[in-house]
Amino acid sequence: MTYWQAEVETMSRADLEKLQLEYLKKTIRIATNSPFYNKIFKEHHITSDSICSLDDLKKIPFTTKEDLRNNYPFGMAAIPIQQCVRLHSSSGTTGNPTVVLHSAKDLNEWANQVARCMYMVGLRDTDIFQNTSGYGMFTGGLGFQYGAEKLGALTVPAAAGNTKRQLKFITDFGTTCLHIIPSYATRLAEVMRESGIDPRRDTKLHTVCIGAEPHSEEQRLRIEELLGVKAYNCFGMSEMNGPGVAFECKEQNGMHIWEDYVIVEIIDPVTLEHVPEGEVGELVLTTINREAMPLLRYRTRDLTRIISGDCPCGRTHKRIDRFKGRSDDMIILKGVNLFPIQIETVLMKFKELGNNYLITIDQDEMQIEVELSDLFTDDYSVLQRLTKEITRQLKDELLLTPKLKLVGRGSLPVQEGKAVRVKDLRKF
Ligand code: COA
Ligand code: AMP
Ligand code: ZN
Repeated sequence: MTYWQAEVETMSRADLEKLQLEYLKKTIRIATNSPFYNKIFKEHHITSDSICSLDDLKKIPFTTKEDLRNNYPFGMAAIPIQQCVRLHSSSGTTGNPTVVLHSAKDLNEWANQVARCMYMVGLRDTDIFQNTSGYGMFTGGLGFQYGAEKLGALTVPAAAGNTKRQLKFITDFGTTCLHIIPSYATRLAEVMRESGIDPRRDTKLHTVCIGAEPHSEEQRLRIEELLGVKAYNCFGMSEMNGPGVAFECKEQNGMHIWEDYVIVEIIDPVTLEHVPEGEVGELVLTTINREAMPLLRYRTRDLTRIISGDCPCGRTHKRIDRFKGRSDDMIILKGVNLFPIQIETVLMKFKELGNNYLITIDQDEMQIEVELSDLFTDDYSVLQRLTKEITRQLKDELLLTPKLKLVGRGSLPVQEGKAVRVKDLRKF
């Protein structure tokens, strides 16, 4: 068995926990320089000396997405902005987005995390890696880019969309590995079939890294079958840098989460207490090797569980299970995150629209049905123009294009009590 960093990947649990405590104390020292944590530490009498064991982490309050928004843009920074070399920011223009800042060292560590994951699934410097993630602010773009370069692979930064061009690159350049969002992997396979390309015969593809959106084990197996590859589940989130936080190894029994980078907790999202090992709860992560913007006890809102026991691959870092959903109402579609409130905010700007709307998600399509207001006309060309304008504004807000359907007043089910605005028909 070979490893990217054998010493750290197979470290004994006792040594790993010792390392975590040392890194945690260092992180507390760094975080004291952030206006946000400085205030919290003062209020709770926290210093690096008051953290004597990993259990003392509990003395620190949770950090939430709301905290990031309230401290937009740079209130969470723990080093001077001039020492930061990049930021990533969440999508959406409604309210404040979240911002994550990185120093050059942070970016180097992040690239190392991704390279470690890629090596773990058998990728080497001989591979040709094509990334179908959006670049720019989506961390799946630059995150995988620098990780794959660190590994030494030849990289093809194809970015999202333009499926015919993706296929040309795959066949012409001999792409062996893709980073691809699960729903797009199925789409790519469909276009391959329509174009008469047999992935086993006509391409060199052998591995795909799939993540950034929820998917079932059945969907993973289907992707393997459709593309003739091994498909590995990978988890990342922008607040934790991006891809590379946790990744399946070749055993494909859970994703190893790199505990020299994060401390893992699983809590009950209601009581906020730890759940017993093996039970599903919300994943809470603490960065312990980041300097520009450490995050302590960050509530990811992702629901998962720790898979107990040793992994035959020899890596000692904990494994987390495929995600079971979220403890908030965030929707992930085509690798894009959005909240229903963003849709509502756009819709409510139009006086031609009523108050009742319904969002239906099926596979990688989102349909928004919205009732017209009483005042409004049924002139077809006016309705067409209106549909186009609302769709354009929704696309600007969401970064993806929903199917919009304007319907007559009273056509949608009457919402009683707490309105159910989202029908997600996907199976995870
Ligand atoms: N990744 C890459 N390409 C995708 C995709 C995905 N998740 N979902 C759809 N596409 C392709 C479509 O097949 C289409 O290809 P075509 O040019 O061959 O027709 C093209 O992108 C446009 O898709 P469409 O559904 O018409 O547009 P949209 O406006 O709804 O969505 C995307 C725009 C796909 C560009 C946008 O959703 C996106 O950038 N997604 C990727 C997000 C990402 O990288 N996340 C990573 C987070 S780590
Ligand atoms: P982003 O910050 O845009 O990268 O989105 C992060 C979110 O995407 C996570 O909090 C998860 O909800 C989701 N996500 C990322 N990877 C996976 C995965 N492998 N399986 C399921 N959901 C994922
Ligand atoms: Zn393993």
